[in-house]
Amino acid sequence: MIPRAIRLAAAALLAFAPACDDPLQERAIEALGPEAPGVPRGPLHRRGQPCLTCHDGASGARAFSVAGTVYVTASAPDPAPGVVVELVDADRRTFRVATNCAGNFFVEPADFTPRYPLFVALESGSYRVEMDTPVQRDGSCASCHGEPASRSKAGQVYLHATPRPFDASGCP
Ligand code: HEC
Ligand code: HEC
Repeated sequence: MIPRAIRLAAAALLAFAPACDDPLQERAIEALGPEAPGVPRGPLHRRGQPCLTCHDGASGARAFSVAGTVYVTASAPDPAPGVVVELVDADRRTFRVATNCAGNFFVEPADFTPRYPLFVALESGSYRVEMDTPVQRDGSCASCHGEPASRSKAGQVYLHATPRPFDASGCP
């Protein structure tokens, strides 16, 4: 017989469980912490985070197929708006999406669901930088890219290796 207190506690836990019931996923979402103060849930939130951890269509947030954040340089927190993220999949289908004022971009599955591997490049005016190796299956750039860079993490996704002027006019 399970003591009543434990049954009640279990019921309480279930009542607060998010829509998804994968405990690993729940922990991964929790580890990302709360929303930043003053940034509403939406296109500008949680920059630099692995968007698809939540935006998988099963955890209460709308599903994305590919999403991430682009910064101006490798080591500063300045986001890079207006950068074109070019995605080319195994069927050579190309999809282009621009970053917003948070440096964020996201792709709706109905618009483009890549067949992997996925080749990635960034474009800003005539400047172009390519990721040498294709992505094999993960639609979140930040699953591999993040600060601080380490043996298991490429650094944040950036446009320029060294600081240089970047035109972010049109953004607050
Ligand atoms: C910790 C979970 C979590 C992470 C990580 C996360 N989001 Fe969200 N996001 C949400 C929730 C919850 C909502 C509100 C529900 C919704 O609108 O889908 C939301 C809403 C949004 C919306 C509005 C969707 C709509 O239907 O209008 C956009 C756009 C968005 N997020 C983009 C992003 C991007 C880009 C990233 C990564 C840089 C990201 N989110 C990371 C949880 C998250
Ligand atoms: C599976 C892990 C992984 C994922 C997912 C990933 N990247 Fe990368 N990325 C890397 C690694 C490792 C490098 C460095 C080696 C290379 O260029 O291939 C890199 C390099 C890059 C570079 C080149 C940087 C430079 O100047 O050398 C760009 C740009 C880039 N990634 C953008 C992206 C974007 C945008 C996404 C999301 C659509 C993404 N990456 C997803 C692992 C990943």
